Amino acid sequence: MSFSKIRQDSVQHPEVVEVVIETQDDRLVKEYAQLLQRVGEKNGESKYTIYFGARGVELRLSSLAQKRGILVDFSKIDRRTGAGNLSKKQPLPKAIGNHSHIVDATAGFGKDAMLLALMGYNVTAIEQSPIISVMLRDGLYRAQQNSELNNAIGGRLTLVESNSVQYFSNINNAEVIYIDPMFPPKKKKSALPPGRIQALQSIVGHETTTETAKIFEAALQTATQRVVIKRPIHSPTIKKNPIAIHEGKTIRYEVYRPN
Ligand SMILES: C[S@@+](CC[C@H](N)C(=O)[O-])C[C@H]1O[C@@H](n2cnc3c(N)ncnc32)[C@H](O)[C@@H]1O
Repeated sequence: MSFSKIRQDSVQHPEVVEVVIETQDDRLVKEYAQLLQRVGEKNGESKYTIYFGARGVELRLSSLAQKRGILVDFSKIDRRTGAGNLSKKQPLPKAIGNHSHIVDATAGFGKDAMLLALMGYNVTAIEQSPIISVMLRDGLYRAQQNSELNNAIGGRLTLVESNSVQYFSNINNAEVIYIDPMFPPKKKKSALPPGRIQALQSIVGHETTTETAKIFEAALQTATQRVVIKRPIHSPTIKKNPIAIHEGKTIRYEVYRPN
C-alpha cells in the first residue's frame, strides 16, 4: 500500500485529497502515478481519499477509509428505452434535438454523457478535474469490459481531461455543446452523509456566475447548432431569448443559438 496527499490546484477548490493504492493492476498503477504527477503532493487534513483498489478508483471519506466509496459505475444505469431513462422524450434529449455530435463541457461523473451516448449521440465529454477524470476513465474502462454494455455504448463516448474553454479553441465540429455547471450551494446544510453530488462539490467546488458565463460565452462561439445549459428551475435565464426551454422537476434546459 502506498499513499500521498494532493491538492487540486488546477481547479478552484483547494481540498487536500489523500491518494491510496492497494492494487498492482498495471492500468491502475499507471493512473495512480499519472495523477500524482499531474497534481503534485501536498500536506494537510484530508476529508476525502481517492482509493485505487480491487473495485477500481473510489472516492472515499477519509474518516471511513476502510468502507467502500463512490465509484463511477455505468453498469447501474437503467437502460430501458420507451418511457425509460433512454427515452428521447425527456427534457435533455429534447433540448439537444436531432443532432449527432455533442460536446458535454462539464462531464462530472459522466451520467449525462453516458445516457446521451446510449441514446445514440456521439459524445465528447470534457472534465477538468484530474481526480474526477481518473474516476471517469476507470468507469468507462470497466463499462467496456462488459460486452453487452460496451455494444450498447457503440464507441460513441470519448473522454477528454481538459478545461473545456481551452478545448473549444481547438475544435470546429461540435454541433451541440451541453453545459451542466455546479450550482451554488444550498443555504440549508444537510445532516445526511455526503452523497455523490456533495462529494463532487467538495472535490471540484462550485462554479461562480463568472465561470459559468465564461464557458457559456465560449460555447456560443464554438457550437455550430445549439448550446444547451442546465439551470435551477427558479433562476433567471442565463441570457435573453433562449430558442427553447425544456423543464424537469427541479431544473430546466435552456437552448440558445450559437453566435
Ligand atoms: C455538475 S457537474 C456535471 C455533472 C454531469 N452532468 C453528470 O451527469 O455527472 C460539473 C462538472 O463540470 C466540471 N467543470 C466545471 N467547469 C469546467 C470546465 N471549464 N472545463 C471542464 N470541466 C469543468 C466540474 O469539475 C464538475 O465535475
